[in-house]
Amino acid sequence: MSQAYRAVGWNRQKRRYDATLGAGVAAYVAIFVGGGFALDAQATAETLLIRACGTAALLLLHVVLCIGPLCRLDPRFLPLLYNRRHLGVTTFLLGATHGVVAIVQFHALGDVNPLVSVLVTSRDYGTLAGFPFQQLGLAALCILFAMAATSHDFWLRALSAPVWKTLHMLVYVAYALIVAHVSLGALQAERHPVLPALLMLGVALVVGLHVRAAAHEMPGDVDRTAAALALPAGFVDVCAVDDIADSRARTVCVSGERVAVFKYGGKVSAVSNVCRHQNGPIGEGKVVRGCIVCPWHGYEYRPADGCAPPPFTEQLPTFAVRVVAGRVLVDPTPNPPGTYVEPASLTSVLP
Ligand code: HEM
Ligand code: FES
Repeated sequence: MSQAYRAVGWNRQKRRYDATLGAGVAAYVAIFVGGGFALDAQATAETLLIRACGTAALLLLHVVLCIGPLCRLDPRFLPLLYNRRHLGVTTFLLGATHGVVAIVQFHALGDVNPLVSVLVTSRDYGTLAGFPFQQLGLAALCILFAMAATSHDFWLRALSAPVWKTLHMLVYVAYALIVAHVSLGALQAERHPVLPALLMLGVALVVGLHVRAAAHEMPGDVDRTAAALALPAGFVDVCAVDDIADSRARTVCVSGERVAVFKYGGKVSAVSNVCRHQNGPIGEGKVVRGCIVCPWHGYEYRPADGCAPPPFTEQLPTFAVRVVAGRVLVDPTPNPPGTYVEPASLTSVLP
């Protein structure tokens, strides 16, 4: 959480994460290049390096994209999420090495600026085989660069969470561009069916996990069986008090708003389900020492007013909540972020 910019410390867990990542990437590139020479004595080091870095970047991009939905489906993947940005920066560095070596290899010997050469070499947009696929790789690389360059929390604060999040959602555009780059480039020359099959498997995995996570996150239908109760005007019956475990939340969707309804210390409060840091699922967090703790990176909020405890300044929208005859009722209209709402007591009755 951030009240003012602070450099993030390099702790033991981060060092271990980065060492594992670095060793994994180095081993992949070494095996790819070594294996390439063993299988084909005519292969050049440049071509093998281009291929090793390109495929490593694409593999890592799959990991980056799959971590989010995996964490939503199973919290045991959360440790991978904490330093996901390191994976993103490594993906960019691998993509950049691949792109730079490819430009040197294929564009540096003419009398045109190599970068201009990438843009003008082929303009055969009408055919699959002649499509200028390298331009797609270049566009993807620009997006990965923008994301890597702004990946630090300093930029999150400087740009504001919504702008930063929108910028980082461009990773899906970069992914689509790279899939097209590979399909229209390397796969046009390569006739072996295993490679397109692997690419399709990767796309199916990314899409499938996102669809499953969305279905899993879809809050259960708001139960209106208690409609017979004389509900206070504007309130919606969302669940039974007993449906919520102590110090935990139930996430519901009321009138299009995702609301996390927390039960803690004999009270119930409702706040927006969307964390101000990186839109993490607040409702999957728990109340610890009086504060809701976001499950993704540990931002904290007070349940009653949605405010981060001082000196931090983040604020969540809150919702009016009541408990009537063992049922939890929520007013779907969000209050401005940081508005105090009296928690509903578990013993309260209709006024
Ligand atoms: C300036 C940007 C880029 C250029 C000029 C470029 C160029 C190329 C070229 C010439 C090939 C064919 C290589 C061959 O058949 O030996 C290729 C293939 C490939 N590219 Fe790129 N690329 C760029 C960016 C990227 C990025 C950002 C990624 C992934 C993050 C990527 C992933 C791949 C993959 C997976 C392949 C197929 C494997 C291979 O043949 O290397 N490329 N690229
Ligand atoms: S999304 Fe990072 S702490 Fe909530």
